[in-house]
Amino acid sequence: MARKKIALIGGGQIGGVLAQLIAMRQLGDVVMYDIVEDLPQGKTLDIAEAARVDGFDVSVTGTNSYKDIAGSDLVIVTAGLPRKPGMSRDDLLTTNAKIIKAVAEGVKEYAPNSIVMIISNPLDAMVTLFKKVSGFPANRVLGQAGVLDSSRFATFIAWELGVSVKDVNAMVLGGHGDTMVPLVRYANVNGIPAMEMLERKYKDKAKAVEVMNAMVERTKMAGGEVVKLLKTGSAFYSPASSAVAMAQSILLDEKRLFPACALLNGEFGINGYYVGVTTVLGANGVERVVELSLSAEEQAALDNSVNAVKKLVEDMERLGF
Ligand code: APR
Repeated sequence: MARKKIALIGGGQIGGVLAQLIAMRQLGDVVMYDIVEDLPQGKTLDIAEAARVDGFDVSVTGTNSYKDIAGSDLVIVTAGLPRKPGMSRDDLLTTNAKIIKAVAEGVKEYAPNSIVMIISNPLDAMVTLFKKVSGFPANRVLGQAGVLDSSRFATFIAWELGVSVKDVNAMVLGGHGDTMVPLVRYANVNGIPAMEMLERKYKDKAKAVEVMNAMVERTKMAGGEVVKLLKTGSAFYSPASSAVAMAQSILLDEKRLFPACALLNGEFGINGYYVGVTTVLGANGVERVVELSLSAEEQAALDNSVNAVKKLVEDMERLGF
């Protein structure tokens, strides 16, 4: 069987870790595209030269030409600029929308049958724009955010409860922003509700709620917490790991259930918007959206998050995209 081909559009911080993780897992041959001359060539040469040590046979190459992504099965997009001091939200939206529009045109021309995963921010708007410009079917355009947000939530719960994070299941739905919705009721440790474990730990219901709320808030602000510490950029190891888990499910047709930014068609009472929801990821990309019952409070939080996404998409349209 021919090896799969994965194109990485953007060879910055996340792009570099993506290339290394994909190579080490031997998910397929990697082509990294960036507009900066020599950058993708240099990064991929460095990674390729570790093949002997890490023991991988896939090829890892860099390019400044879209034609080299031809035949890609999966495209992962991290192209974009981070927000700089003095830059308004609209400025960032315009800058990154221009970039994603160009990326969508390049991918449409050279990898028209690929499945595309967007990581660039503001995520929900960038996925919406890619879908619009490419005209790809909805199952082949998705965004990465929920796996990372959920991993962050699970990590905080594991630390708090003193259990292996491998046993923690936690899910975050909604847009990738302050309005995201960590689902407390569904958070569990190998099936035991996390809230029950917290109540037993503190022997005090109110205290358990307070501790859980603090973890929910930390999850919502987790991206900013890393930015504040790094000062010169945003998180890149955990976003790359999250995207690779999704990529593997698609490339190996694992059909794992992951939260992903997917186009909704009435599910969760949402129509025509890209929002983070529970999905099954396999060889056909987003194979289906898995609905789950939400309490009135959870549904209200999700609706609030969808409204934030709607506002973002409206802003983007107002700016001419
Ligand atoms: N086409 C391709 N690549 C581009 C383009 C373009 N039109 N414009 C910029 N780039 C490249 C930059 O040259 C840079 O190498 O995108 C890369 C972005 O890398 P970083 O600035 O290091 O950003 P990174 O940390 O990788 O994050 C990428 O993901 O999580 C989001 O908010 C984050 O939007 C950001 C994106």
